Amino acid sequence: MIGRDGCGSNQTRLMSEVKQRSSNRDPIPASPPASDLHAYSIRVRNKRHLEQPLYYSGKWWARRLAAVTAWMIGEALPDGHGIVLDPFMGSGTTIGEALRLGHRAIGVEINPFAVAVGQGTFRPRHPSLQQAYEQIVTKALKEIEPLYYLGPNSPAGYFWAHARRCPSCRKSTLLLNRRVLVQHAYRRIVTAGWAICPYSRHVFPIKNVNATKALCPCGRFVKLSVAVGGVRFKCVFCSHSVDPWGPSDETRTPPRAVLVAVEIRKGKSRTFRRPNRRELDAALTRGQTIPTLPDMPIIGGRSTDQALRWGYVDWQDLLHPRQRFFANALIKQIIAVDSPALRQALAIAFAPVWEYHSRLCSFKGIGSGAVRQGLGTPVIHPVPMSYEANPLQGAKGPRASGDPREWIKQRSTRSALAFVELKKHRGRPVRFGTIRAVVAGKSDVAIVCSDSAKVDHAPDSVDAIVTDPPYFDRIYYDDLAGPLVSWLNSCNVNCKSVGEGIQGATVDGFATRLRAALAPAVTALRPGGSLIFTYHHQDRSAWLALANSLATLPLTGHAVSLVPTEMPNSKMKQRSAAPISCDAVIHLKKRARTIETTNLEMWAKDMRRQLAGLNVRLAGDNASAAYASALLAGLSSRQVPSWESLLDTAYAIVAQTP
Ligand SMILES: C[S@@+](CC[C@H](N)C(=O)[O-])C[C@H]1O[C@@H](n2cnc3c(N)ncnc32)[C@H](O)[C@@H]1O
Ligand SMILES: [Zn+2]
Ligand SMILES: [Zn+2]
Repeated sequence: MIGRDGCGSNQTRLMSEVKQRSSNRDPIPASPPASDLHAYSIRVRNKRHLEQPLYYSGKWWARRLAAVTAWMIGEALPDGHGIVLDPFMGSGTTIGEALRLGHRAIGVEINPFAVAVGQGTFRPRHPSLQQAYEQIVTKALKEIEPLYYLGPNSPAGYFWAHARRCPSCRKSTLLLNRRVLVQHAYRRIVTAGWAICPYSRHVFPIKNVNATKALCPCGRFVKLSVAVGGVRFKCVFCSHSVDPWGPSDETRTPPRAVLVAVEIRKGKSRTFRRPNRRELDAALTRGQTIPTLPDMPIIGGRSTDQALRWGYVDWQDLLHPRQRFFANALIKQIIAVDSPALRQALAIAFAPVWEYHSRLCSFKGIGSGAVRQGLGTPVIHPVPMSYEANPLQGAKGPRASGDPREWIKQRSTRSALAFVELKKHRGRPVRFGTIRAVVAGKSDVAIVCSDSAKVDHAPDSVDAIVTDPPYFDRIYYDDLAGPLVSWLNSCNVNCKSVGEGIQGATVDGFATRLRAALAPAVTALRPGGSLIFTYHHQDRSAWLALANSLATLPLTGHAVSLVPTEMPNSKMKQRSAAPISCDAVIHLKKRARTIETTNLEMWAKDMRRQLAGLNVRLAGDNASAAYASALLAGLSSRQVPSWESLLDTAYAIVAQTP
């Protein structure tokens, strides 16, 4: 946690406030005052799990902090209640906050999984969900019980890695970029850990996880960290390497899931060892036919192409054998449920099966960024190790999130509580309906699965647009959600794609599609109404694309605020040449531009003042702030600016002056 505000007692008070926000006693807190927002987002950005609003009924990516969203809504609608539209709804942070603040809300979202998550939250919960969930999970766990050894000293957890046969020497090579299996969260302070030998597969304790090598009981030195050469396969035995982007067919057989270690717990002590024969046989379900799930083809895309290159063709290729048995046991029962609404709620509630101990796993817990890391960069690296908690150990197990019996509590039950809280808060139940019904005041919330470019809104029908548009070139939502969309379809839940989300193939392509998606929303906005959204990017091209998409819409610049809301310690961001820690909150109004020439100096000064106030020194922040000032200046003047030179001038004023 970065205590930039640095004041101890203040920090303690704020931490307890954050804890309270996440506790059930005060599930719908007031939004923080604007003056507190910067300090607040710095405090919570690394602890976003504490900040998770109750109304998140399923996983989604790139969710904004609820507090920041609430503040944006407050800026857009300072007085009275109105209709808030989010044309890039995601899983519905804007919707939840708008309802909480007493407004009505319309969400449009192109990805059917995100839509299902939103519906799972803002529609009354199916009355039989809890009972049906319990029945299904009990039966499914019974079915897979023989695949886990449950005797005395049975493992609390299992470590899975991936291996490929070397095309040259035919030996099986573990795909690992680190050979440290277990380390303390603060590995510089507590240096002890466990390592795995890629040659002999010994699992052994080491004194210093920060060292470059360690001596294995087999007599060989093991390099603890290995440069895997980007996405290459490099054989540990003969050094043969394969470039999956190359023309060769050598990469076509997908890596195999292998169980490499188990965790044994006695009281507080944890030890790790190589799995024994019995554990291996059970885990790899030897002697049994591994079930084939309904087809879940991996669709090619910026992030998924790499998976295809590695030879994965179906999302189920990324599950290890035991997990396939479990998924199969669930699917069988879910598809037997008659009610489509209940099937959908069950499929969402069981979707975490894809977030655990698969190739896309997280061993941190529900909702961490691991799927994004897995498909990050944006290439799939078949290197990380995944941790499978023994699901049969129940609450006694190492992590509640590893126990499927707990999943429903962590998401569906919480969001049902949010629905009840919203009712209390608003004085009457939230009414779910169509866009038309919301506009007519007959419903409170509408969630529509559509490309925003294709929605026919009535002109002047909404009071504010509050949103968080897709990133120019970072997160490929459709790729990331691929396994989850497939999962819903396998559970016989209608989860049809209605089109591809906006992604930044090229500056022009992004600009054209963003404009097309925003145009109907701006038509819907009442004159004088606010469009307020977050954006951050250190690349000029991303801002050029944004400027081009907004320039021809009837919008004028109103304000820009920097909000430190991103996680600056995220791996991918650290690797970036110019790390960035702030979002720019861009506030535009639907009205004619009146100023004759750009007043860049004024906006740039404001940005410099804000940067100084935040004490932000990251190169990416400087650039992002500079470009934001150019955007606002350009969008305020009647004269159509030359965007390239305006962006460059702003950069020179804001980012280059000390
Ligand atoms: C940054 S995310 C929004 C996340 C959201 N704030 C939340 O809390 O979950 C952007 C969203 O825009 C969606 N999207 C991309 N192109 C779209 C389009 N043309 N129409 C509607 N939604 C789109 C993506 O699927 C993604 O969910
Ligand atoms: Zn080899
Ligand atoms: Zn060894």
